[in-house]
Amino acid sequence: MGLKDRLNEGRLAEQQTDLGSVSHWRQRLLSEINLDDLAMLEMQQRRTRLEKVVGHLLSREGPVLSDRERGALVRRVVDEALGLGVLEPLLEDENVTEIMVNGPDHIYIERRGQVERVETTFASEDQLMQTIDRIVSQVNRRVDESSPMVDARLPTGERVNVIIPPLSLSGPIVTIRRFPKPFTLRELAAKGSLDESTAVLLAALIRARFNVIISGGTGTGKTTFLNALSGFCPEDERIVTIEDSAELQLQQEHVIRLESRPPNMEGVGQITIRDLVRNSLRMRPDRIIVGEVRGAETLDMLQAMNTGHDGSLATVHANSADDAVYRLLTLSSMSEVKIPFEAIRDQVNNAIDVIVHLSRYADGSRRVGEVGLVASSRHEEFRLDPLLRFVPEPMGAERIVRGKFQRFPIPRHVANRVHAAGETIPAAFGVAADDTPQEFGKAP
Ligand SMILES: Nc1ncnc2c1ncn2[C@@H]1O[C@H](COP(=O)(O)OP(=O)(O)OP(=O)(O)O)[C@@H](O)[C@H]1O
Ligand SMILES: [Mg+2]
Repeated sequence: MGLKDRLNEGRLAEQQTDLGSVSHWRQRLLSEINLDDLAMLEMQQRRTRLEKVVGHLLSREGPVLSDRERGALVRRVVDEALGLGVLEPLLEDENVTEIMVNGPDHIYIERRGQVERVETTFASEDQLMQTIDRIVSQVNRRVDESSPMVDARLPTGERVNVIIPPLSLSGPIVTIRRFPKPFTLRELAAKGSLDESTAVLLAALIRARFNVIISGGTGTGKTTFLNALSGFCPEDERIVTIEDSAELQLQQEHVIRLESRPPNMEGVGQITIRDLVRNSLRMRPDRIIVGEVRGAETLDMLQAMNTGHDGSLATVHANSADDAVYRLLTLSSMSEVKIPFEAIRDQVNNAIDVIVHLSRYADGSRRVGEVGLVASSRHEEFRLDPLLRFVPEPMGAERIVRGKFQRFPIPRHVANRVHAAGETIPAAFGVAADDTPQEFGKAP
């Protein structure tokens, strides 16, 4: 055996005793104290109480340790005892919106829009797997080689995604997204994610039953924005929401929430978004809200929008407002219903009124990057008229993205439709004298 192997073996043994001792002390702690008795306490108080007990146990029965080692051991034992190990303090921090574990040694968080690496690590891959087990078993799921991928919503509302080797080549990966109190459109405007008058315009469009698609890349705030917009659906309408993992938090009373279901361990029982969209049509909805369209359900949604369910909303993953309409076309053609491309284009042109595209900027801020109006109809090639565009300024030394929202006049026929619904167009937009199309890239 070479020196290197011997060293490695030694390190391994060290890790195992270290690990052994954490679980040993955890056992000892749990034999001294009943966690249920602490359920009434705040997390921080619970932690303090447990730390005290572990401290006592260590002084009585433990090895001689430096203050630093002792502090670290106490913290680890308590983390373990409290459930999600080293993730626990991160989950307690209200400013943390996302926790990303890339194997046992790399933990990143997103705090106030910025991603940073934290110092804590898991003791080993085993310990990480135990934590994963604890997370997914809360929702009666299992992660192992035969089902190495799980996406679930925790009882406390967080969304968790787990993917483990061999699918992940970087060890077990956990992504936890947390949902703070949802933003209203007014709050998003106050944060600068859109301007006040665009917020007023979008609210009017929703009330006037325009069909609106929210597009953007991963994590650009699509779900957040959808939630904010859906706040303008009137109380007296019957709204059905359809999602893969329920994140929307509509405040209206008459809301029916549907959530799709993955297949069970035997691979049966799957209910897709598409099944739910089709079923929702038999539920007499006034509006249908689809969390995200990703496949063939797009065609069903377009058909629903074209057959009396105006005022429906959905999000789609796309790189621009223009890209979004093409994505809808491509996704619709994934349906097994074989209809010609032109016919699908017809459906998109007729169904979709407005695309709101969101972008994430270099400083972590999220904004409405463009709002486009689908101006083409029937078989025509897609054409979007711009209503709004964010024009960023060069970034200064403070590394904050600033810029201007550029507004374009609302085409006459759109204004007519808004007025017919008893709504008004905010003065900041103005109404175009005629319906000559504007182009993105040209000032009004
Ligand atoms: N305008 C905003 N300003 C600041 N933070 C925001 C804004 N919009 C969303 N967020 C935050 O960004 C994170 C991602 O938001 P959200 O889930 O809405 O994005 P998404 O585009 O739906 O993501 P995904 O692609 O995973 O579905 C959340 O933590 C959310 O609170
Ligand atoms: Mg989303």
